[in-house]
Amino acid sequence: MKKVQILDKKFALSIPEKKIQEAIKTISEQINTDFKNRNPLFVSILNGSFMFASDLIKQITIPSEITFIKVASYTNTQSTGVVTEIFGLDHDVENRPVIIVEDIVDSGLTMQKIIEQLRSHGAEELYVATLLLKPDALRFKVPLDYVALRIPNEFIVGYGLDYNGYGRNLRDIYTLMPE
Ligand code: IMP
Ligand code: MG
Repeated sequence: MKKVQILDKKFALSIPEKKIQEAIKTISEQINTDFKNRNPLFVSILNGSFMFASDLIKQITIPSEITFIKVASYTNTQSTGVVTEIFGLDHDVENRPVIIVEDIVDSGLTMQKIIEQLRSHGAEELYVATLLLKPDALRFKVPLDYVALRIPNEFIVGYGLDYNGYGRNLRDIYTLMPE
């Protein structure tokens, strides 16, 4: 089993690049069908979703735009649940479908806050495309329109996701190993 050391922790390979790409292809085909002639705006949540957004948008064949926003919500290996605001929204979100592109939905709190914020900016038709979902960790009610991969309730890194800022560059996804 392929392993990596990131800062003080060891992680083992859990989702190889190929499986990630296949899962993204599947949801991108659904989006291409569902939003044909709808001119959606993809809103990618930085930092975590940058790789997913990049690979997803390359598979999108319908007219659409993408923009990037930031939220601060997470430190160390536990969700702090502290989300204040979104920043960087430079597109009009009214009168068009908005597809939020997120790396992972864990408890769902971050997504709930992002949705609240986008609604306050006038978004009415909101969809969620997430690379990963931890179904057993979900505590908040959020729409989950496109879920590429479902994973156990374990801490992971790679493919944009970090452990204290490191590991985002990995092409595959790795799971924290027990000490
Ligand atoms: P939630 O608010 O509990 O749903 O947490 C969502 C946010 O926590 C995501 O946007 C990620 O930035 C981060 N997060 C949740 N689980 C993991 C993980 O396993 N690895 C890295 N980041 C994670
Ligand atoms: Mg994130």
